[in-house]
Amino acid sequence: MLKNDLAKRLKTRYPMIQAPMAGGITTPELVAAVSNAGGLGMIGAGYLTAAQTKEQIREIKQLTGNLFGINFFVPGGFEAANEKITAANDILNRIRKQLKVEAKAEIEVPDLHRVQNQFLAQVQVAVEEKVPVCSFTFGIPSGEVIERLKQNGILLIGTATTVDEAVEAEQAGMDMVVAQGSEAGGHRGNFLKDHEESMIGLMSLVPQVADNVRIPVIAAGGIMDGRGLAAALCLGAKGVQMGTAFLACKESGAHQAHKEAVLHAKEDELVLTRSFSGKWARGVKNAFISEMKPHEALFPDYPVQNALTQDIRKAAGKQNNREFMSLWSGQSPRLAKHQTAKALIDHVIKEAEETMGKMSQSL
Ligand SMILES: Cc1cc2nc3c(=O)[nH]c(=O)nc-3n(C[C@H](O)[C@H](O)[C@H](O)COP(=O)(O)O)c2cc1C
Repeated sequence: MLKNDLAKRLKTRYPMIQAPMAGGITTPELVAAVSNAGGLGMIGAGYLTAAQTKEQIREIKQLTGNLFGINFFVPGGFEAANEKITAANDILNRIRKQLKVEAKAEIEVPDLHRVQNQFLAQVQVAVEEKVPVCSFTFGIPSGEVIERLKQNGILLIGTATTVDEAVEAEQAGMDMVVAQGSEAGGHRGNFLKDHEESMIGLMSLVPQVADNVRIPVIAAGGIMDGRGLAAALCLGAKGVQMGTAFLACKESGAHQAHKEAVLHAKEDELVLTRSFSGKWARGVKNAFISEMKPHEALFPDYPVQNALTQDIRKAAGKQNNREFMSLWSGQSPRLAKHQTAKALIDHVIKEAEETMGKMSQSL
């Protein structure tokens, strides 16, 4: 049952994907450990340059002969009005003061053209390095990019938070689609409607997506163990993508304070914020999120706000100060364990098999 069509297409032992987590979390060690243990390891390349992307791919190739994948942020338009940026920066200067970080006077605004070129350069690296699987979030790449990757035999995975997004991903040529439930940690992948309308719980999302597309559906959001994998399969998914569970693993590059925050968090401490990046994302509530809440609707869009808060997040990391770091996590942190990626995968598979066995006996 677990060596299903999805696992066959991904050429993995199990239908389990380690979520790409941009920002240094998906280290080559983590990606390779997952692929070596029977899952699909994924690089979160969202914040990497093309050169860094190539370096990571090559490092992973040294650590595993198995397949792995890479994930890109699809660039979208963003508003960058000067008054908005200056107002946001003034508010952030208050936080900088608390952290003893120099106030920011010069603001370098990300330029859409540059962001798009960086994305295209990353795609070029994926083609040159023959990375077998590419996934996307925040939108669907152009027909040209899709065609190019497909011609090179690369398997494509889209991200959807609603049925319409999944249908659009299928129509654009994606081979599979991740259904990202509202439980999910990190950034929301919605691209058709705003975040509020796209907050569909996984239990509702997966069967409705499965009924409306022919491509395999991969469930993501709050899945941490074999019960979650079994439940996702029952709902019509062909596999799972797990982020927070892998973030807590030994090989993950998450900051120690981030891992600890997740390992000690309760399900009612996970909130959505757009204050860190300008895009809605789920993480453990801290002082930054609370203090910025009255202003968050006014902050500029991603990637502008992300660029504005970069020095704050960096300083907080250096100071081991969890109150000003982005502590992304899904809604099941009580199920997180600090263990190796292999131990996690082995446990998930064993528990899923037991759970499915018990279900068939009780029918
Ligand atoms: C720390 C963190 C970073 C993430 N970064 C990315 C990313 O770069 N690209 C992406 O497609 N999804 C990203 N996600 C979302 C995951 O793909 C997935 O939807 C989510 O982890 C599922 O929920 P879970 O964390 O409860 O397992 C991230 C999630 C987390 C927790």
